[in-house]
Amino acid sequence: MTTDTTDMSPAAFQQTLLQALAENVPHRIYAKDIEGRFIFANAAVARGMGVSDPSELLGKTDFDFYPLEEAREYTRLEQEVLVHGRPLLNQEEHVRYLLLREDVWLVTTKVPVRDGAGQIVGLVGINYDVTAQKAAEQALREAQTQLLQSEKMASIGQLAAGVAHEINNPIGYVNSNLGSLKRYVDDLLRLIADYERAEGDLPPEVRQRLQSTKVEVELEYMLEDLPVLLRESADGLERVKGIVQSLKDFSRVDNSDWVDADLNAGLDSTLNVVSNEVKYKADVVKCYAPLPPVRCLAAQMNQVFMNLIVNAAHAIATYGTITLTTGHEGEWVWVEVADTGSGMTPDAQRRIFEPFFTTKPIGKGTGLGLSLSFSIVQKHKGVIHVNSEPGKGSAFRVWIPVNTEGLEEAPALPAGVDDKCLRSGQTGDPAVR
Ligand SMILES: Nc1ncnc2c1ncn2[C@@H]1O[C@H](COP(=O)(O)OP(=O)(O)OP(=O)(O)O)[C@@H](O)[C@H]1O
Ligand SMILES: [Mg+2]
Repeated sequence: MTTDTTDMSPAAFQQTLLQALAENVPHRIYAKDIEGRFIFANAAVARGMGVSDPSELLGKTDFDFYPLEEAREYTRLEQEVLVHGRPLLNQEEHVRYLLLREDVWLVTTKVPVRDGAGQIVGLVGINYDVTAQKAAEQALREAQTQLLQSEKMASIGQLAAGVAHEINNPIGYVNSNLGSLKRYVDDLLRLIADYERAEGDLPPEVRQRLQSTKVEVELEYMLEDLPVLLRESADGLERVKGIVQSLKDFSRVDNSDWVDADLNAGLDSTLNVVSNEVKYKADVVKCYAPLPPVRCLAAQMNQVFMNLIVNAAHAIATYGTITLTTGHEGEWVWVEVADTGSGMTPDAQRRIFEPFFTTKPIGKGTGLGLSLSFSIVQKHKGVIHVNSEPGKGSAFRVWIPVNTEGLEEAPALPAGVDDKCLRSGQTGDPAVR
């Protein structure tokens, strides 16, 4: 049955309209008096706060529903409206419903209500739930981060492989030429020695001329220096070959494969790749323990080492020490990168694994290195421990199980090892030791 609205007084009509609106919109609508007590709430508010009927809210305040700290915070926000008459428009709020044990994100508007004399007598609030939207945004951000990271790593890998390939060719012929050069030089030196022995038989003016040419070209020095130059060039070439090999290892095409890898060797080849970032900033001290082969995504583990070593070098302002230590305990191996750099405040430590968290200037850091490292370590069911003190330095220790094949969960960490860190599947802040 319908009622003709023309039968109603304007006030009654308005009342009905408001009631229909308040009861049917999915938004939460409520009003509070000047003391912050509910004087009206619609069904959506009641549902959200875990009570069956809006009447159960009347006369109560936020302190009856929220943890103390949060109730204080909301009251403080409402005071802005109630005392200063400043409306709050479309403000995002993170609310923890104690009764429902759930966290929600709300977009809230709160405006003052005034009496005929213009005095504030309370407030009206309206809010809607954007938790699902927030979760979708977060998922999108994470996917984007992963994409950015894998693109970044893929292009570094490609670059490394390309450079290695390009250098290989010239290195090949320089190496073979250097071999021939050494043989020719040995022969020439033998020949010069023969000539020198025959000098006594020459007429004095020819001997004189030869003598002055010898002085002019500094023959004695040349004969000493030649073998040294050749030896140094051969050593230099060996080093270049080592770097090319490291670039190849680093950018291994099989980077999606699980292999049994020697993490000490991975650490060494990574160090070679980033040596330019490191050599002007720090002495590198290596304390490697013998490690069993570790079943891992070797190229990805190298990315973790790279991020940690480059971060360590960046943290050092002038010159310091980077210590690379490895160890093996039970089912686990660990790799630690420690520096004598700036260290981190507890606040920064809490945020370092967040994607895009960086304290570096624009263009210097993307803030993705540690978040990527974190997800790689998670993939290996490992953990990262961080120990840092402002002004003294930081140590990042990556624990990786030797082999997790066929295991649902990682084996227990060795006794005495602080297990506050995140494992795959857990949520929350990556813990910091
Ligand atoms: N060894 C360290 N010492 C001091 N601070 C560090 C160290 N490692 C990381 N941090 C801090 O953590 C932040 C995040 O590091 P992360 O590697 O994720 O990003 P980034 O180095 O800033 O940028 P990039 O994406 O180029 O790696 C750094 O900006 C820095 O403030
Ligand atoms: Mg970094």
